[in-house]
Amino acid sequence: MGLFITLEGIEGSGKSTQISKLSEYLTDKGISTLAVREPGGTPVGERVRAILLERPEKSSEALDITPLTELFLYEACRAQLVQDVIIPALDAGSTVICDRYVDSTLAYQGYARSIDLGAVAAINARAASGLMPDVTILIDLEPEEGLRRATARMSGVTGVKEDRFEAEDILFHKRVRDGFLSIAEFDPGRVYVVDGRGEIASVHDSICVIIDKVLESV
Ligand code: TMP
Repeated sequence: MGLFITLEGIEGSGKSTQISKLSEYLTDKGISTLAVREPGGTPVGERVRAILLERPEKSSEALDITPLTELFLYEACRAQLVQDVIIPALDAGSTVICDRYVDSTLAYQGYARSIDLGAVAAINARAASGLMPDVTILIDLEPEEGLRRATARMSGVTGVKEDRFEAEDILFHKRVRDGFLSIAEFDPGRVYVVDGRGEIASVHDSICVIIDKVLESV
């Protein structure tokens, strides 16, 4: 079985950049590595992602998704990704790095949207077929800074609007961040918190130190 690594954090925390750097680092060590993202990563998942993150030009065209519907759509993406991609890759001995996983659902739908945490955890477990990450890196950042970075990134891409979550108010993102930090506090053996304020290279180095330790222990 390969190692299952997840990266978590608020919008603009730098997860995607760190995932490609970590992926390169592991590949250079001769470890077969697959990077995937949630929601998405399968044909069905990418279509559902489009529904979840759509931000239409006019507000009248916006899909009114209830918190429970949103929860089930994320879980649907996960069920497909775990069965079709993650489990087969781990079984084949590859290391899998997943951009967001069950902790995002707890933080966004549970802590931030106030769906009962026990219910979210139970549905998470079912959709994930009980598969938990060996290690989770939480890139922690103040929501103000994360949103500033995310907005700057999006405005650099012509014609692309901020997505549905980036449009949420700052209090929502504070609840997400606090949710992630609570998860880390409850599960210190799995979740490692990395300060996301540093330079890309220094955040990468901190992540590599953690992953190397985990690799040594398996
Ligand atoms: P990202 O690809 O930029 O990380 O965007 C995914 C968005 O989906 C992000 O705003 C977090 C949100 N999300 C949830 O609300 N619940 C989930 O379970 C997952 C995986 C993501």
